[in-house]
Amino acid sequence: MKIAVPKERGPGENRVALIPETIAKFVKAGIGVSVERGAGEPSYYPDAAYEAAGATLVSTPGELYGDADVVTRVAKPTDAELDALRPGTIVIGVLAPLGDAPSVERYAQRRLTALSMDTIPRTTKAQAMDVLSSQANIAGYKAVLIAAEHLPKYFPMLTTAAGTVKPAQVLVLGAGVAGLQAIATARRLGAVVVGYDVRAAVKEQVQSLGAKFLEIDVGESAEGTGGYAKELSQEAIAKQRAAMVKAIGAADAVITTAAIPGRRAPLLVTAEAVAAMKPGSVVVDIAAETGGNCELTEAGKTIVSPNGVLVIGAVNLPASVPTHASQLYSKNVQTLLEYIIKDGQIALDMDDEIVRGTTLVNNGEIVHKPTLDALAVSGSAAVQTPGGGA
Ligand code: NAI
Repeated sequence: MKIAVPKERGPGENRVALIPETIAKFVKAGIGVSVERGAGEPSYYPDAAYEAAGATLVSTPGELYGDADVVTRVAKPTDAELDALRPGTIVIGVLAPLGDAPSVERYAQRRLTALSMDTIPRTTKAQAMDVLSSQANIAGYKAVLIAAEHLPKYFPMLTTAAGTVKPAQVLVLGAGVAGLQAIATARRLGAVVVGYDVRAAVKEQVQSLGAKFLEIDVGESAEGTGGYAKELSQEAIAKQRAAMVKAIGAADAVITTAAIPGRRAPLLVTAEAVAAMKPGSVVVDIAAETGGNCELTEAGKTIVSPNGVLVIGAVNLPASVPTHASQLYSKNVQTLLEYIIKDGQIALDMDDEIVRGTTLVNNGEIVHKPTLDALAVSGSAAVQTPGGGA
């Protein structure tokens, strides 16, 4: 069996699908690995490290894909990359199928097998394959560093000979994986943190990280399928926004992470709420790519509101911490591959929950509709919390 690792070509995509340490394990198990020259450079894994791990370095798509059984990627392949693949190739990556049925059809037309890392069921058994968690953790961490860098204030409280500095007030909206890591990071930097999520179930997790929980009665349940939030009615969202204005106005930094799979991100921070913030305050919107949680957000841009608040439309934050993002992603992919390799070959058992949730297309046949059903979270599963939780 042969695995190929291409260089990612998306704008700002600094990650690589497999790092040398993982490749050494595959090579030891008798699996060949070809790596496109320079694939690891943006994440600081040099070609020499891949060579030392036993990979074959290649320079052209023909050499890379010619005899590859499996192609491991980070982002979904471009049309040109798809066209370079042989029918029968197994593509593994963050294929983001929700809302992108045409891509799934294209994998089928090319007679590929497509395994999507981001539809792996979020069960305890699949935790080591959960890229949504490994990468969202990084996004939450980095969002806080960006806020700290741009805030014209200290985060921690300081008592010095020149006077006392009050700690920064940080509000984190959305307390899923990214939000909990943002809370933990802001707390480590010494800020006073308030967390909020529409799912009441996360209140205790927020409090266990040393933050206060913002209570808002929206008048309806927000618990959706499999541990995710569901979309609220317009009335409930309006209540939420109104109740949040005061908390947003009191915050020096607002980190927004609220998301609903396959939907536009909920609009939580209105222009009116931004107008209530102090000049110099910062909003870092991790949900920018799916429409943003803040009304002023522009994905990939930083804008200054009329009252001097910086609104940062953060995109692909995991790629801005590429060494560790790649290390964790590589481990996620390795775990999936080891799960599906039997006697040196890939064997997809469609009766297996993890395999079924991950497989979009099997040898040209669409087997898995890109719907929310794919994202079921086991009710009893431990939640991966920052700071050591399982
Ligand atoms: P996500 O990225 O889909 O959403 C982020 C957060 O935004 C969620 O906590 C959600 O409740 C919140 N949100 C949505 N609409 C909102 C609104 N209007 N106002 C405020 N907050 C809003 O979620 P993520 O981080 O992917 O986690 C989803 C679920 O998966 C969680 O229940 C988490 O506990 C669970 N999970 C389970 C794992 C496991 O058992 N292996 C691993 C990781 C996560």
